[in-house]
Amino acid sequence: RISSTKELLHNAERGGYAIGAFNVYNLEGVQAVVAAAEDEGSPAILQIHPSALKQGGTPLVACCISAAEQATVPITVHFDHGSSKQELLGALELGFHSVMVDGSDLPFKENISYTKSIAEVAHTKNMVVEAELGRLSGTEDDLTVEDYEARLTDVTQANEFIDTTGIDALAVCIGNVHGKYPESGPNLRLDLLKDLYGLCSKKGVYVVLHGASGLPKELIEECIKLGVRKFNVNTEVRKAYMDSLNSSKKDLIQVMTSAKEAMKAVVAEKMRLFGSAGKA
Ligand code: G3H
Ligand code: 13P
Ligand code: ZN
Ligand code: NA
Repeated sequence: RISSTKELLHNAERGGYAIGAFNVYNLEGVQAVVAAAEDEGSPAILQIHPSALKQGGTPLVACCISAAEQATVPITVHFDHGSSKQELLGALELGFHSVMVDGSDLPFKENISYTKSIAEVAHTKNMVVEAELGRLSGTEDDLTVEDYEARLTDVTQANEFIDTTGIDALAVCIGNVHGKYPESGPNLRLDLLKDLYGLCSKKGVYVVLHGASGLPKELIEECIKLGVRKFNVNTEVRKAYMDSLNSSKKDLIQVMTSAKEAMKAVVAEKMRLFGSAGKA
């Protein structure tokens, strides 16, 4: 069934677990997430990145919404990393249940005005607005300690950012990265996460962690204890899809089915790890 992202996050906050938001690109991806959610009795978020939207267009959004409607568990459809106003204003008309406004590349004051301008419109449609403060590194980045620190979410800035933009969820940068983590392993600033959650929970704002692919079990569990309520997962699911294609299967339906099964297994495991399994 269709839920609201607000309801999913609210329940996660009350229950002390996190919702998985899984990036989807096509029908198999959508079916994999929904099937995993049904098997696990878990709520879930289907999320579409602008690059996926560019590829799949409005039929991809319609596919997500239709799958969510038919599901026996609560599902919502989220627009991920909206980094242009035009893109976001367009997305607000497509039926998404929530959006991420990504102004993390902008200077602080510009990120505020950009995020606020979208949040005002999105809130007239009762959509949850997630925004990012700080900057997520890519693994290819070779940062000095100072550069690394400069990209982390600042608590004082976060306070002002939340108050002036009116966002509902904050994507934090605590050393999390999109894609792979370095060989040495993730270096998450859990002390900073604790402070950010302290701030966010006072303001009724949910904490989101991007770049969940590659985080070990213990660290995910620690992040949930410290207040993360939404994890974004892309790379691991996509890798399962790609790896499944390297099999010797020649039949198209077989190829699609095994891709779906491979993605579903990854998604189901995340749902159990995030604690959302059994919470539908
Ligand atoms: O960090 C999240 C907030 O504590 C959420 O509060 O569940 O009352 O909206 P809420
Ligand atoms: P990963 O690719 O590291 O899972 O990150 C996903 C993400 O943050 C999508 O917004
Ligand atoms: Zn992300
Ligand atoms: Na990652």
